[in-house]
Amino acid sequence: KDTQSGFPEHFLWGGAIAANQAEGAWNLDGKGPSVADAITYKANLDLTNYEGHMALSDQNIDDALNGHNDALYPKRRGIDFYHRYKDDLALFAEMGCKVLRVSIAWARIFPTGEDAEPNEAGLQFYEDLFREMRKHQIEPLVTLSHYEMPLVLSEKYNGWVHRNVVDAFVRYSNVCFDRYKDLVRYWLTFNEIDSIHRHPFTTAGIRHEKSAPGRETRDVYQGLHHQFVASALATRDCHAKIPGSQVGCMLTKLTTYPRTCHPADVEATLKKNIENYFYTDVQIRGAYPPLIKRDLELRGIQIEMQPGDEDILRQYTVDFLSFSYYMSLTESTQPDAERIAGNTVLGVKNPYLPASEWGWQIDPVGLKISLLELYDRYQKPLFIVENGLGAKDSIEDGKIHDGYRIDYFRSHFEQMEQAINEGVELMGFTSWGTIDIISAGTSQMTKRYGFIYVDQDDDGNGSLARLRKDSFWWYKKVIASNGRDL
Ligand code: BG6
Repeated sequence: KDTQSGFPEHFLWGGAIAANQAEGAWNLDGKGPSVADAITYKANLDLTNYEGHMALSDQNIDDALNGHNDALYPKRRGIDFYHRYKDDLALFAEMGCKVLRVSIAWARIFPTGEDAEPNEAGLQFYEDLFREMRKHQIEPLVTLSHYEMPLVLSEKYNGWVHRNVVDAFVRYSNVCFDRYKDLVRYWLTFNEIDSIHRHPFTTAGIRHEKSAPGRETRDVYQGLHHQFVASALATRDCHAKIPGSQVGCMLTKLTTYPRTCHPADVEATLKKNIENYFYTDVQIRGAYPPLIKRDLELRGIQIEMQPGDEDILRQYTVDFLSFSYYMSLTESTQPDAERIAGNTVLGVKNPYLPASEWGWQIDPVGLKISLLELYDRYQKPLFIVENGLGAKDSIEDGKIHDGYRIDYFRSHFEQMEQAINEGVELMGFTSWGTIDIISAGTSQMTKRYGFIYVDQDDDGNGSLARLRKDSFWWYKKVIASNGRDL
């Protein structure tokens, strides 16, 4: 315990990115196309229309499989982290980052998902990356699946709907555990596993048009079940292969308040929150919760389970709970309640909260509420692995004065400190998009989260030069003082 700071002495301050949003080099050194490589940037679309931004067609799939129309697909270029990671890590180290969350692009290791041998160049890239992190005393926190499964698995099997994908993932995970066992201690299996319902293609390679009519929702639950099983098996294997390793689940924490204290609003909110807890209930408590089981039954959704699946879920639960938190929403039964966007969701507007340009309601107290709720429910260590403000930045005299971003983080850190003081066990904090990267939801470059600016626009023009924002110096000070100096 740090006696002067509310944060524990070894609190893991750091940053987070994902391979598909940062690396670029989408078809270099043997990498196969991933689902992310099939998503285009769509100018002039309503910023809150995620379905529109993530929509895809057969043309997109064809483009990605055959390497056409590169310029339209920003996630293929990212911010060229693939070639610039050494310089970028030096910047993260300069900020004092103790941990960096990255993901492994599965299709760099298994280009089609089921190749006879893993791709050595891909394995070597991540080995070099993790070694470089260690050189800077930056602890890697590695996500195995962050919206970037091999596109071929999506095409061949309708993604995670098919059981074979479980085997492919477990094999891929084991190759990673074997190769990086001396370098990586902290692992996450699936980024925002709940997002399969909101964007099934990018999360799990599932396309509704490939399901039999009427089976679309069932197929998504089937894919989710397969991810649960795969996650549990990967957790088992990680523990067996890497003594002392810790594996986390990862949830989009969509904290929802009732719009009013009308019991109908409270009930509707409760149901939303029960749904949000479903995923962590399975991955931490080791079983489908009874209310969810009954709900599936009432909706006529039958998940196919293999004998032994329930045992696997029960036996191989995770060590810690990680989550993203950006905003909160409210819920109302009033049909005319004003709606507002959140992270790939729509909810009801909260009159007490300001919102970002993308409509995400800024709610630091909601982070504290989330920490208290999650810790009270599970009594497992928590890790905030995504949080931040997407905003448009402008350069004035070579500087970026992003006081709005500093305010956002400061107010969230204050709430984190309070939650810790009130007894929550929090392992660390990794800001989302520590360096500006391509947006997951809109494929924009100009929705910036970073402490480090990257000179690139939505169409891919720019020098890719890196520039420290005001928030860079601020975060450095926060880390150096272990959160005392906010
Ligand atoms: C999370 C994802 O949901 O939100 C990230 O895990 C994503 O990949 C982040 O980038 C912010 O969303 P967006 O759409 O603003 O990039």
